Amino acid sequence: MLKVGVFGVGHLGKFHLNNWKEIAGVKLVGFFDPNNDNAKEVVEKYGLKRYMDEEKLMDACDIIDVITPTNQHFDICMQAIRKGKHVFVEKPITNTIQEGRALMDLVREANVKVQVGHVERFNPAYLAVKDLNLNPMFIEVHRLAQFNPRGTEVSVILDLMIHDIDIILSLVKSDVKSIVASGVAVMTETPDIANVRIEFNNGCVANLTSSRISMKKMRKMRLFQKDAYIGVDFLEKKTEIIKLKQPEDQDVFSFDIDTPNGKKTIAIATPTIEPLNAIKLELESFVDAIVNNKPTAVSEIDGFLAMEVAHQILEKISSTSILV
Ligand SMILES: NC(=O)c1ccc[n+]([C@@H]2O[C@H](COP(=O)([O-])OP(=O)(O)OC[C@H]3O[C@@H](n4cnc5c(N)ncnc54)[C@H](O)[C@@H]3O)[C@@H](O)[C@H]2O)c1
Repeated sequence: MLKVGVFGVGHLGKFHLNNWKEIAGVKLVGFFDPNNDNAKEVVEKYGLKRYMDEEKLMDACDIIDVITPTNQHFDICMQAIRKGKHVFVEKPITNTIQEGRALMDLVREANVKVQVGHVERFNPAYLAVKDLNLNPMFIEVHRLAQFNPRGTEVSVILDLMIHDIDIILSLVKSDVKSIVASGVAVMTETPDIANVRIEFNNGCVANLTSSRISMKKMRKMRLFQKDAYIGVDFLEKKTEIIKLKQPEDQDVFSFDIDTPNGKKTIAIATPTIEPLNAIKLELESFVDAIVNNKPTAVSEIDGFLAMEVAHQILEKISSTSILV
């Protein structure tokens, strides 16, 4: 039985608690959180032990789950890794590039597993297409949210856009060539809305828009590649694939169009999306990596690379935009 200790039982931390309770082979030992209101609620609702000493909680556990504000991630992860504990840490992996590098060095020396909470990798809409032959040359993303003070200790790039940056880096097997970015700070001291164009060495171009000051919510990614268009709606959990019909595309809706090169048949598929719980899946995959000594699905290196691109975007914004 793997023993789990949770650091941070705020908004997302409680979702983690609910899911850890449902996962086979693990036992929740306790939590640490300096916020008395959150702590009281968790003790009462979950009957979980509140530790007042961080070290004692770590010593009693095999897994440390870090769901604190981002500026606390590094210190807690460092302490846990030094004690030889496996660490699940929410995104973004750390607040700064230096912290991220130091964390990767620590993991390299320690025999522990680290997974970063880029939960969209486990979104059922994305899971429905991720094993297709994805080779996008143009990617368009919109991630729009209504304003919520939670998460605003970091910019919209590190808070929201980083989900899409991580997915895109996992899909496009090429290095970033250039970044053009523009952002505006409206409600906070850091960009609340941003548009970014990332060009990769293989010619792929990704155009990302993120906002945390929108009236409506949207989380859509559109992938265009030579033989297909793939639309992923992370919010509505829907996926659409439009492509030239192939012999194996039997049970899909299709129609013919006349082109200068003759008649082409277009097929439209809307794969069935399983109603899966992405947080439970990511935590289960972490446990599986520990038990079966496999690489984690979203490693500390993946988390670092996404954070590094996020910081490159922030540098571009601060050098080109007027933040008022
Ligand atoms: N993967 C996702 O989609 C997603 C969604 C929301 C939040 N997050 C991430 O989760 C983290 C927490 O976000 P949240 O919305 O739950 O925030 P929150 O403010 O609701 O909760 C954070 C909790 O951490 C506690 N805390 C602060 N310092 C601590 C410390 N040193 N040790 C232990 N606990 C401490 C706070 O008291 C609070 O209870 C952030 O890193 C955020 O980026 C990820």
